[in-house]
Amino acid sequence: MQAIATPLPIDRYAKTIEVSKRVRWDIDRDVIRDRTFDLARKFLPDGLSLVDQLPFLDADDRRRYGQVQGRTYANMFGLVERFIGAKVLELGRAHALGDQAAMEALVRFTDEELKHQALFRRIEALVARGMPAGYRFMPQPNDVAMFVLVRSTWAVLALTLHIELFSQSHYRQSIDDDPDVSPLYKDVFFFHWKEESQHAILDELEWRREDESLSVESRDRAVDELIALVAGIDELLQVQAAADTRYFIGSAGGEFTAAEAEQIGATMLRAYRWQYIGSGVTHTRFPKVLGELVTPAQAKRVEAALAPLLAA
Ligand SMILES: [Fe+2]
Ligand SMILES: [Fe+2]
Repeated sequence: MQAIATPLPIDRYAKTIEVSKRVRWDIDRDVIRDRTFDLARKFLPDGLSLVDQLPFLDADDRRRYGQVQGRTYANMFGLVERFIGAKVLELGRAHALGDQAAMEALVRFTDEELKHQALFRRIEALVARGMPAGYRFMPQPNDVAMFVLVRSTWAVLALTLHIELFSQSHYRQSIDDDPDVSPLYKDVFFFHWKEESQHAILDELEWRREDESLSVESRDRAVDELIALVAGIDELLQVQAAADTRYFIGSAGGEFTAAEAEQIGATMLRAYRWQYIGSGVTHTRFPKVLGELVTPAQAKRVEAALAPLLAA
């Protein structure tokens, strides 16, 4: 078990417990409320799906294109929450004989991620009922978790903070002001955001705590591991974007030329890179915290690795 050398910001852990208790929601009672998905509505706002970059799609195919991405969104969150929950459980254990508020905050965090995984499995099942057969979510949550969790805690916490911040950014920046998005899907984003806000605070506290225990050399290795993790996420996005492109083209109403099909595939990947990488590393607190923990040369290394993924 890891010793806790420096005093913890106890009040901040305690505050997340208080808020976590206050906002706590139930999958059926608060989110789903006996509803199903209306396939006449969008699942994701256009700012996330990037559907405007495909002007040749008619109205029905525009909607279907975003719905495929909305289905993958639920599966992607179910996937990342597998490794996040496992890591946070381990972090909570490091506080077991120390500050009890820190331990409780991380136990609640773990419990919430288990609930979120259950929510996203329900969403996938509800969406699957109305959509044409043939959709496949390619990555396996446990395979990805094993790929992620062998990296240092510093790198895993960096990736986790980035994820929990972009989930909030998706809700705040776009979901709440798009009137055409399905009310059930909006509620999924809304309720998820309510609990993710505490998670991001805890990720940052734990990341800074972990950072204090690292030598200069281990931090430098951890920066490379963070870059490797993002590259791994990108590989997964490439595979899923290709699968979703095949599924979309196979079930769309329109016929597409080879050039249009290629454009659909490229836009799908661009949208996924924006949703799962760009909207976290550019539009949130993430670059600020990273900048406080690493040297300018290390920050440049991260930037250089991300640049090709974020090119327009
Ligand atoms: Fe979550
Ligand atoms: Fe979370």
